[in-house]
Amino acid sequence: MSTIKLPGLVDMHVHLRDPGQTEKEDFYTGTSAALAGGFTTVFDMPNNKLPITTSERLEEKKEDAKKKIVCDVGFYFGSLGENIDEFKKIKNKVYGLKLYLNQTTGGYIIDEIALKKIYDNWPNDSLILLHSEENIIDRVMNEVRRTGKRSHFCHLSSKAELVAVIQAKKDNLPVTCGVCPHHLFLTEKDVSLLGAFGRMKPELKSEKDRQFLWKNLKYVDVIESDHAPHTLDEKNSDHPPHGVPGLETTLPLLLKAADEKKLSIDRIIELCYTNQAHILGLRQDKNTYIEVDMMEYIIRGKDLKTKCGWTPFEGWKVKGRVKRVVLRGKKVYEDGKVLVKPGFGKVL
Ligand code: DOR
Ligand code: ZN
Repeated sequence: MSTIKLPGLVDMHVHLRDPGQTEKEDFYTGTSAALAGGFTTVFDMPNNKLPITTSERLEEKKEDAKKKIVCDVGFYFGSLGENIDEFKKIKNKVYGLKLYLNQTTGGYIIDEIALKKIYDNWPNDSLILLHSEENIIDRVMNEVRRTGKRSHFCHLSSKAELVAVIQAKKDNLPVTCGVCPHHLFLTEKDVSLLGAFGRMKPELKSEKDRQFLWKNLKYVDVIESDHAPHTLDEKNSDHPPHGVPGLETTLPLLLKAADEKKLSIDRIIELCYTNQAHILGLRQDKNTYIEVDMMEYIIRGKDLKTKCGWTPFEGWKVKGRVKRVVLRGKKVYEDGKVLVKPGFGKVL
């Protein structure tokens, strides 16, 4: 069996749920899952139970994270258009501003008036990340065109969405985009088997959409897991929340696809490291890397470090298990075990 060495991977889109919803995940379990999945740096979304829309909440979250994390974590800020005055205060303390233009976990949605106001006021040199599905993308694109502000379109899931971003790139707008493993490997057909465990926002799409994403992967900048754990009880309830975990399945799914010649290992490095570092302005230490055993294995929810303990990829045969993770020269993970104390990771 061969072993490959890759840079410590970056996942620019995770929901670690801490503080406020630590029954789903917390900073320790979420960053342990990151290491198990080969990620040494993750970026946490602001849709906490109390959304991260004030500088005080941001500071508290960062202080809390400092004590618990085992990989490096950067944060995003949130806005409903009411906290423009906070922007100056937190600008250098976050890696971007996340906006939700569609209904999703946390009921954290903005309208077009708020969108305009936010685009007018968010600092020029800082990133805006968008949850905008289908035709809503066009409305956002008007703001990007009007203001020239750097914008990242998260989790594109359909042909229409990717076509809109491809056009914007051809028009030289300052845009980047990501897709999630679940939209690359699952379709709406899987929902009949998975039920709530296959429900997330954006929803799974058709086989045609899935194939369009694969065929046009050259226009995609990053693979982001959108790791969004919810408890088994919540998913089994009458009103299950949207979201699936992804930190521990992203790399093995991609390595399996590489084995099937759907993309190269070099391209995986671009999608899961180089481009993410570039978008977020990260510099990685040379002594941060991962070693992956190119063995086949079966994904099992019970083997995962995420607190939720399930995965939509239960039973999938994949190739490539993270054997060892070295962060800034220190061995932090080996053979399924986290080797450092909570707090070893850095808040970025
Ligand atoms: O499925 C999703 N879950 N989509 C989102 O946009 C939010 C996320 C969550 O926080 O659960
Ligand atoms: Zn998300």
